[in-house]
Amino acid sequence: MTQILAIDQGTTSTRAIVFDGDLRPKASAQKEFTQHFPASGWVEHDPEEIWDSVQETCKDALDQGGDVAAIGITNQRETVVVWDRETGAPVYNAIVWQDRRTASLCADLKAAGHEDMVREKTGLLLDPYFSGTKLAWILDNVEGVRARAQKGELAFGTIDSFLIWRMTDGKRHVTDATNAARTLLYNIRDGRWDDDILRMLNIPANMLPEVLDCGADFGETSLFGAPLPILGVAGDQQAATVGQACFQPGMLKSTYGTGCFALLNTGDTLVTSQNRMLGTIAYQFDGTPTYALEGSIFIAGAVVQWLRDGLKIIDDAPQSADLAAAADKTQDLYLVPAFTGLGAPYWDPDARGALYGLTRNSGPDEIARAALESVGFQTRDLLEAMAADYPGETGNVRVDGGMTASDWTMQFLSDILGAPVDRPQVLETTAVGVAWIAGTRAGIYQDQAGFAKTWAVDKTFTPQMDATTRDARYAGWKDAVARTLTNRG
Ligand code: G3P
Repeated sequence: MTQILAIDQGTTSTRAIVFDGDLRPKASAQKEFTQHFPASGWVEHDPEEIWDSVQETCKDALDQGGDVAAIGITNQRETVVVWDRETGAPVYNAIVWQDRRTASLCADLKAAGHEDMVREKTGLLLDPYFSGTKLAWILDNVEGVRARAQKGELAFGTIDSFLIWRMTDGKRHVTDATNAARTLLYNIRDGRWDDDILRMLNIPANMLPEVLDCGADFGETSLFGAPLPILGVAGDQQAATVGQACFQPGMLKSTYGTGCFALLNTGDTLVTSQNRMLGTIAYQFDGTPTYALEGSIFIAGAVVQWLRDGLKIIDDAPQSADLAAAADKTQDLYLVPAFTGLGAPYWDPDARGALYGLTRNSGPDEIARAALESVGFQTRDLLEAMAADYPGETGNVRVDGGMTASDWTMQFLSDILGAPVDRPQVLETTAVGVAWIAGTRAGIYQDQAGFAKTWAVDKTFTPQMDATTRDARYAGWKDAVARTLTNRG
């Protein structure tokens, strides 16, 4: 058996892909699940629905693709599940990474002067994005939960951890270092859960999973017949970093899914950002973390969904580029898609979306263009901040994710960055990354250097925009953001 099953449990859908012995996708299945918005700024998932979607897609992919030797899991990060150790039943819905309900708790902690300590230990900032304050919210707001947690009856985990618990019939309560690094509770310098932060958030340590390398023995599942080992786990953005073969310091990838997440490999150096980027673990093998600088944007592909489902000006994603291409170039519209606040480098959970520059001639074409351009502008924000934190040569930006299928969007990205952008031949980088991790451990795939050699470019986009236009457009964007921020001073 030389095949691997990769599970990619994302924010809006679950996918299962069988990779063959050459790390090529052979069979796949996908299932969307319900997004719950119980209050303004709140986003939840039903863990049981996620679990059903995982079982269904895996069975489907395995039926089509045949037997596999091992499983790799990659997942939406930061999303929090708390469940009963006895029954496996969640005590509350999963609180999703996009959820802003803990904005005021974060503001209070910041006002109390805790941010520097948190940043030093975790590489993260006090923003509701991360798991820690969401877990604290469940403990403080769901009836009976704190008492049960104190008695050791409850377990906490990110989605990977919850799935592994279910897949191993409750035998393993584990996670990997990349997922742990996003919780706000894990000290990424020392590689352990941090007592000071647990105390600050009043979280019992007995709820937390054991933290393993990305390529480790995460247990066995008999869900699909004969027992299968789970040998690879990584948060989805870290898995994409691996899938893009960004193994050398200075290599950079940017993934365009629901949001956009740019990770710059910084090797064994944990860079403390002076520009409100995040420090995180890119991957961890043999007990040694490789660090990254990360810029996280909350709305990228989701802006296209908004054009389709909110404004209803397109029927499908590819149409957005057709509209953008037809837009009146003399109009200077800017959409700041702060639908769930703004992430890096602004970190303003209370900001909300805004559209500037409307005239009586503005219509769907111009709005679609502003929407796609917002993704390029936000990426430039991240890359400028990273360049300031990590001076020196970085390679071409390697892009992946659904939005990269749009040539128009990728060309604008290159134009506004004033730098080349590489779109690889294999766009399944997240699933490839974790399949490679699990498959290498299973002895099927090549080592890191061999795998890196297989990475190949499909198309390189080079800047076509003149420098004056580029500077003027970016200045227009910065002005639009400045007018949107609530934390401007
Ligand atoms: O940090 C959130 C990120 O992991 C979500 O990724 O691809 O599900 O939007 P995605």
